[in-house]
This record gives sequence, C-alpha cells and structure tokens, in this order.
Amino acid sequence: MTDASPRLHTGSHDPQVSPGLSRLMGGGWSPTPLPASARVEAYDVTPARRALLSARFPGERLIVPAGELKVRSHDCDHRFRPHSAYAWLTGLTGEDQAGHVLVMEPEGPHGHEPVLYLRPRSRRAEGDDAFYRDRRYGEFWVGRRPELAEAERLTGLRCAPLETLGSPPGRRATEDAELDAALSELRLVKDPWEVDQLQLAVDHTTAGFEDVVRALPHALAHRRGERWIEGVFGLRARAEGNGTGYETIAASGAHACVLHWIRNDGRLDRNELLLLDAGVETDTLYTADITRTLPLSGRFSPVQRQVYELVLAAQEAGMAALRPGAAFRDFHRAAMRVIAEGLAEWGVLKNAEGDLHRRYTLCGSGHMLGLDVHDCAKARTETYPDGLLTEGQVLTVEPGLYLQPDDETLPAELRGIGVRIEDDLVVTATGARLMSGALPRTVAGIEEWMGNLLEG
Ligand code: GLY
Ligand code: MN
Ligand code: MN
Repeated sequence: MTDASPRLHTGSHDPQVSPGLSRLMGGGWSPTPLPASARVEAYDVTPARRALLSARFPGERLIVPAGELKVRSHDCDHRFRPHSAYAWLTGLTGEDQAGHVLVMEPEGPHGHEPVLYLRPRSRRAEGDDAFYRDRRYGEFWVGRRPELAEAERLTGLRCAPLETLGSPPGRRATEDAELDAALSELRLVKDPWEVDQLQLAVDHTTAGFEDVVRALPHALAHRRGERWIEGVFGLRARAEGNGTGYETIAASGAHACVLHWIRNDGRLDRNELLLLDAGVETDTLYTADITRTLPLSGRFSPVQRQVYELVLAAQEAGMAALRPGAAFRDFHRAAMRVIAEGLAEWGVLKNAEGDLHRRYTLCGSGHMLGLDVHDCAKARTETYPDGLLTEGQVLTVEPGLYLQPDDETLPAELRGIGVRIEDDLVVTATGARLMSGALPRTVAGIEEWMGNLLEG
C-alpha cells in the first residue's frame, strides 16, 4: 500500500491505493477531446480589451491572476469565481480557473503577447494518479480541465503550464494601484456584447422576482420567510446563470432599514413591506442589481404608499438626469433634492437645505454595474465619481428611505419603514435606456402585477 502523497490533496479518510490499483488506473481510457469548435463566449471581444490594456503599459509585464481557492471549512473550498479583470481579459469564467494567471508579456517597444498559465488536464499514466485521487483538482473529483492545446483553441491565447510560470517581476493586478485603476477604467464603458449579457442578467432577475411573488403564500407561512425568499430567488439564479451576483437581501419590515440585510432570518408579516434586492449573475459573470419594495398583503397601506411614492419620485428624478456628458454625481443630487424636499414637506426636516436628509437615506443613489455589482470600483476619482457619464456605461439608480424603528425624530407611523427602488440603466447617445423596465415600479403597477402572479 502507498501512503497519500503530499503533492495530492487527499483526505485522511480516503482509502489507500495499492500499486496494482495505481497500475490499473493508469490506462484503458478512451480519448475525450473537447469539440474542435468550442470557444469561450467572449472569444471575439477579448482581443480588443487586451489591446486597450496593452496600450496603457508599453514595455511592462502585466500579471493578472484568476485568484486562488479559499477554504470554507477544513478540506471544503468556497465555490471559485475568477477575478473580474481576469474574466474580462480571457473570457474564462469557470470554477476550473482557480490559480491560473494571465501574463501580458511585453513584445517590442509597444505591444504585448498574452500568455495564459494554467493547470492543464492531468495526465493518466501509472504514477500520475492525481486525476482520481486529488480532491481539489482531480478530474474525477471536480471535473475535466482543458488540455493545453484545447485551452489555446478555447481562448485564442498561447497557453503554458502553470508550473513554468515561476515568479517573474512585473505589475501584478490586486497589488498594483495603477494597473488596478486601468483595469477598472477600461471596463467603465461596456461594449454591445456586454450590454447584451447585462440584459440577460436583468431578464433572469425579473423572472426571479416573479418566482418570489408566486412563492409569497408559502413564505408568509414559514417561520423564516425571508430565507424562503432568498432560496426561491437563488434557485432561479443558479438554474439560469452562475448564481446570484451578490448575497440576496430579503428584508421584511424594519429589516429593510438595514442596507445590506443578508441574515434573512426574519418572519414575514402581511402588514409589512418586503425589500428584495437581488441579481442573477450570468454564466459569463455579468450581474443585475435590482430592488423592489413590495407590500406583503399585495396592497400598500396609506403610510407605506406615502413613503414609497417619495422614493419613486426621487428615482424618476435621478433617472431623468442620466445622459452622456452629465456629471456622474448629478443623478444622485437630483434624487436627493426630491427626498430632502419631501422630508421637509412632511415636517421631518425644517427645510430641504444641507445634508441632514442623509440621516434617512444613508448612502449614494447608484453605481456602475457589470462583472462586479459595484463595478469599476478601482477607477480613479476623476474618471468615475468625479467624472462624466459616457454612452455605453451601465449603472444603477437606487434611492431609498430608511426610517429606523428607533428614530425619535420621526412620527411614530413612519418608523420602521424601509423603501429602496433600484433599476439598471445603460447610457445612450441622448439619455439612458431602462433595462429593468419589465418589473413594475409604480404603486398601481406593483399591485396589479402582484395580483396577477398571486392569482395565476
Ligand atoms: N445590492 C447592493 C447594492 O444595491 O448596491
Ligand atoms: Mn446597487
Ligand atoms: Mn442592490
């Protein structure tokens, strides 16, 4: 009997392997090539992206790792999702990308040759028994990886074994602020293929919201209805795409006043609102980011309606401010103006001036959207938060009012109500196109939509 080899990721409870078994496992396997036509979905768009990056760093070696597996508990890893910059440059998005590295090798005074260092499919020969013994990377444990030549056909990149990479000097993504800024800024404007992917993410998310409304009777009866809702949305996300683009926020009642309520362990009450902030991530790793605040009874109460309609008016004002050439901050300012005036009208604020309304709104009114839910976050201030909007940018507009249950500055009837309305838009030549318009936003629209789904 041979002991578990230290180079293999085996478990102490794995049975030992005899020399005879090792010999037997080494042969007798048919070839299983990938179809010659297999390509990553983004095959046609990645060369232009790499050219843009190359032009920013002439003569410099650029290293863009996919990232490493992270232990969840003992020998169980979290699901792996490659770093967004790596996915954007290579088109590779799968769980099998853990540990792989794209190197942009300088070539001549200007250009670069991209080389992908990867762990190719393990060999099957006597003594090469990782394919059936290695729990972390073995083909019989986690699935087949491409051979080197297959990876070259899939991506159009020259590929080399990971073990030949060593530790070359160069600018390394996630450790080099200038490279990280470039990798964010180059993603600020989406190409048409990316806009299509984002629309797909939005469409699957719309279906997920409909699933949730249909499941409300069951969720209302469950002691942890918020979890039931999270699960229903997650089913749609996992079935249609890679999963959710971020942890689903299923917040009922005063939980909605917690911006990122992901504990989702509350019971639902028919008299309260449900704030659902959720997004499906496509297999190509683009995510939607949509929020609807829904009356669990199917009908808004007068006070719920009052709060909802102020947030809706703020969102309308924000969306109307989107156009190429506008400052990124303009839509937030427009939305906050409406909120501040509304709070002053209600007597919550003395007037609409200053920033005191922020006690009730807490955060910004939107952000870039793409491969990351908060996309392009490493862009320099002057190119993103202090920059101008450009055709092809995709962003969210998501004002909210979060009226804390223990806020003594508020009339009692307003306390404990949280409302956010969040939609995804693409900036066009003249304004912006609402991508998530299939989900109703008005009070009447939501009540009718819920009624139809609950009857159906
Ligand atoms: N879902 C997080 C956000 O809306 O920014
Ligand atoms: Mn958002
Ligand atoms: Mn959101």
